[in-house]
Amino acid sequence: MHPKSFRQLLSITAFSALLVAAGCTSTPPKPETSLYQRLGGIEAITAVVDDFVANVAADSRINGRFATTDIPRFKRLLVEQICAGSGGPCVYTGRDMKTTHAGMGITDAEFDALVEDLVQTLDKFKVPTAEKEELLGILGPMKADIVEPGT
Ligand code: HEM
Repeated sequence: MHPKSFRQLLSITAFSALLVAAGCTSTPPKPETSLYQRLGGIEAITAVVDDFVANVAADSRINGRFATTDIPRFKRLLVEQICAGSGGPCVYTGRDMKTTHAGMGITDAEFDALVEDLVQTLDKFKVPTAEKEELLGILGPMKADIVEPGT
């Protein structure tokens, strides 16, 4: 091999090593779109929250809990929370989940009832399984701050 082309080969090898080191190789593409986008953005989230809160209002297992709640504010905060939590451009301006639900004595069964009401809406809107699970995966861990220990 001619010395010059050997040097070329060396520099090509070095360059390839650099690309690998920099992560510029053809790894499978990550999903580019946020859950927020895949859910359909703020309009879809607002429609989901409207329908979900209507389900809660009709659900005798838990609707008594919301007897004195300012529903328009509750809906606005839920939209903000889901939007922000799914990677959307919102800022959640409500109270944290522990402070909000403190002293209410919310039970496991009540939490599950509320999640059921949400799933009913997500199914009605034909939200695909992946997005549904992702959203429930964001809300699920909040349970520890919402359900009172020992209930
Ligand atoms: C993942 C589940 C839940 C989420 C994401 C959630 C979220 C929220 C949010 C964002 C607020 C408004 C916060 C604020 O006032 O600053 C709120 C208030 C409230 N939540 Fe929840 N919540 C959940 C579960 C529950 C459950 C299971 C119950 C009872 C069955 C419940 C009862 C209430 C009530 C009564 C209020 C209104 C409090 C008030 O009027 O001051 N929540 N919740």
